[in-house]
Amino acid sequence: DPLLILAAVAGYLLGSIPFGLVLTRVAGLGDIRAVGSGNIGATNVLRTGRKDLALATLVLDAGKAGIACLIFTFAVSTPAGLVAGGAAFLGHCFPIWLNFKGGKGVATFLGTLIAAHWPVGLLVCATWLGMALVARISSLSALVAAAAAPLLALAFAREDVAILAVFLAALLYWRHGANIQRLLNGTEPRIGAKKT
Ligand code: G3P
Repeated sequence: DPLLILAAVAGYLLGSIPFGLVLTRVAGLGDIRAVGSGNIGATNVLRTGRKDLALATLVLDAGKAGIACLIFTFAVSTPAGLVAGGAAFLGHCFPIWLNFKGGKGVATFLGTLIAAHWPVGLLVCATWLGMALVARISSLSALVAAAAAPLLALAFAREDVAILAVFLAALLYWRHGANIQRLLNGTEPRIGAKKT
């Protein structure tokens, strides 16, 4: 189906806009990839000390995936929306502009889920936020929320949303390999800590 291919390409291109990298560069903070974990996501932008830019990165990264999903859901079909959201996640993690070295997909995961099925999306966000407040480790919160997502989708959403959640959660775990290693070593920094 050419419309599904269009959804994949458009979603990928939207998802590959690295907002964390762009915002920090425009703000004159240099290359975010030289800071902290080297990641282009909101958590690492927070390590520059700029809470406003971190929040903007989170919202824009989630928004690009959510918008991709919503546009194709309403303009084409539900499957096209899921393809666009999933492709935006892939675009964020493997952006063509950055030699395919992108982020870890937490915000794009949340944005896609909210757009695909908002009750499940909000429950996954709540899991992530709750864990972040309790444990104060961003990667751990994302890993717990990602593990919960397929279960919440199975319980409350359609099967296609659950399948997408499994696929995205698996990729998210893969992208967090270094974080998982640091968590096991006890060296993963807490939210707000400037050093890694
Ligand atoms: O936003 C990704 C988060 O889960 C981990 O980011 O920079 O601590 O590796 P970071």
